[in-house]
Amino acid sequence: KDYCSLCSSCQASAGFSRPTVCPPPERLSALFPGVLAQENLPGDRFARGSSYIAACYVKYVEGAGARVVPIRINRTEEEYSKIFSSINGLLLPGGDVDLQKSLFSRAAKTFYELAMKANDAGDYFPIWGTCQGFQQLSVLTSNRHLLTLTDTRAVALPLKFTAEAQSSRMFSSFPRDVMQSLAQENITSNFHKWSLSMQNYSRNAKLRRFYRVLSTNSDGKKEFISTMEAVRYPFYAVQWHPEKSPFEWIQKPGMVHSAAAVRASFYTASFFVSEARKSQHRFSSPEEEDAALIYNFPPVYRGRDAIFLQNYYFD
Ligand SMILES: *[C@@H]1O[C@H](CO)[C@@H](O)[C@H](O)[C@H]1NC(C)=O
Ligand SMILES: *[C@@H]1O[C@H](CO)[C@@H](O)[C@H](O)[C@H]1NC(C)=O
Ligand SMILES: *[C@@H]1O[C@H](CO)[C@@H](O)[C@H](O)[C@H]1NC(C)=O
Repeated sequence: KDYCSLCSSCQASAGFSRPTVCPPPERLSALFPGVLAQENLPGDRFARGSSYIAACYVKYVEGAGARVVPIRINRTEEEYSKIFSSINGLLLPGGDVDLQKSLFSRAAKTFYELAMKANDAGDYFPIWGTCQGFQQLSVLTSNRHLLTLTDTRAVALPLKFTAEAQSSRMFSSFPRDVMQSLAQENITSNFHKWSLSMQNYSRNAKLRRFYRVLSTNSDGKKEFISTMEAVRYPFYAVQWHPEKSPFEWIQKPGMVHSAAAVRASFYTASFFVSEARKSQHRFSSPEEEDAALIYNFPPVYRGRDAIFLQNYYFD
């Protein structure tokens, strides 16, 4: 086998020195952001096995032109390291698990550390956190649980952009009309009880140095961060739920399906996938690639009143 046909971790372990430039991979559009599973919600009567991925996160990434690799919890560090070298980014979804003790948080920590190391060494590996994923990133960066309770369980809000939003990597790629809708219309769905307040962010040197705040919101009492991006790493976090507008249909305050909301959702996914396109990681063979993809698992329909319309379940 020649160097260029090997996966990136295989290239490193094969002991080759830095290569001559490899031609682009055959299927350049093949992108594999991983979506991390998590422990089942308590009392989920549809559950098969012990962990799940809400299908909305899979559709969200697929809708922006990427294929998805489900990353299971409760795997070994070696397995995660191998997966890391095969995928082009990681999405940490919303949910409801312990941010310091769960298997979800353990796997998130492993990938976060791998991503830091890889990016430090000149590799490119983006991480996107949504809601719980946002909160998990804040815990991983500060090494503390600095979140506070807010009254934001089912409410759609407009983003209050900071001065840094315009020059941010994330929002500078958004069309003007989408930025305008985000700033003026109540189209970002909030379904969280915990938030990272501006106060705690400002008081924590690790968070302050690591993340740039792109938007905030308030529950009327506390101002919290709704969007942030890391200064030196391709890490992004939204406390709101862009994936719900196009893909979830529970009738509840805070759910929005307007054209503007769906359009804004697409631009967030498209931005994450455009970041994943910069990653050179690949699977070492087409067989390994096929076996890893989400298509091997059937989603389960959970009914019109379910908080997640469809879930993928894993052992
Ligand atoms: C996965 O879970 C099983 C059962 O709880 C446990 O015995 C095993 O050690 C776990 N594996 C890892 C890698 O954590
Ligand atoms: C700040 O963080 C602490 C936890 O260390 C938490 O108890 C408190 O509610 C937070 N305060 C605000 C205003 O976010
Ligand atoms: C939109 O959100 C604002 C808070 O920023 C709130 O005051 C207003 O009532 C909301 N409007 C609707 C129609 O929900």
